[in-house]
Amino acid sequence: MIVPGSSSQQLAAALAAEAGRALATPTYDRFPDGERLAAVPDFDADEAVIVATTDSDEAWVELLQIQDAVREAGATDVTTVIPYMGYARQDASFGDGEPVSARAMARAVSTGTDRVRLVNPHEASVADFFDVPVEAVDAAAALADPLPTDLADPLFLSPDEGAIDVAATVRDAYGAGETDFFEKHRDRETGAVAVSPSDATVADRDVVVVDDIIATGSTMSESVAVLADRGAARVLTACVHPVLVANAVTKLRAAGVDRILGSDTVERGCSVVSVAPALADALD
Ligand code: R5P
Repeated sequence: MIVPGSSSQQLAAALAAEAGRALATPTYDRFPDGERLAAVPDFDADEAVIVATTDSDEAWVELLQIQDAVREAGATDVTTVIPYMGYARQDASFGDGEPVSARAMARAVSTGTDRVRLVNPHEASVADFFDVPVEAVDAAAALADPLPTDLADPLFLSPDEGAIDVAATVRDAYGAGETDFFEKHRDRETGAVAVSPSDATVADRDVVVVDDIIATGSTMSESVAVLADRGAARVLTACVHPVLVANAVTKLRAAGVDRILGSDTVERGCSVVSVAPALADALD
């Protein structure tokens, strides 16, 4: 039985349809003091596949509650699918006295599951923080599906070297174009991002900027602005995880982006491709 977290209701339904499994209907409530209560009143199965993006602190608590609830309801086999894993970027102690937050979250989740599936984790090494088997699911190829078929001399560019594999996957799925990457520097105090252009010629070309995550939109809006300044024809953005907090969409539009494309690991208006088929394969 597929059990959705409240942030992953569309994706969980798509996965249930794709995998031919029943869909549970959890309830998501809150007590007057703010404590959450997620429950699974109609859960009736030995096997649970929980699908819960953890893009907020509330979502993490809800996931732990659902894990406990399905066990309480009789599940003997629990798979936890985390389409977008929040805190994954805090994968080291970056300053004196700081935690390795990704490890803390992974350990907590491991207590309530037999295995974990992660969609395009920020770094593959985050899997090592879990105490149960983890499989990373690469769903980036699907981002090529909604791209225009008439891209002019396309360039698939990542805003930093770390995302070049994601850009290459989208390029390969599209079937044409070059890949390249920018150099990125982020000021840890202010969050301000500066990108250094590569040597690639972009004038009159369609550029698809590909990243694993768009969060504040600073990285992408800087990249889009640089490309527009250098005479790119259309600049499109594609990401697996469209977190898009605060004014990220406006920053991108103001920078001149032609299109924002994302998957349904985080359910937003731009979530035009589904990772459900890739997840269904990973459940087999
Ligand atoms: C960082 O290495 C990631 O790949 C993304 O570039 C980053 O998370 C994007 O964050 P933001 O949208 O806040 O610039």
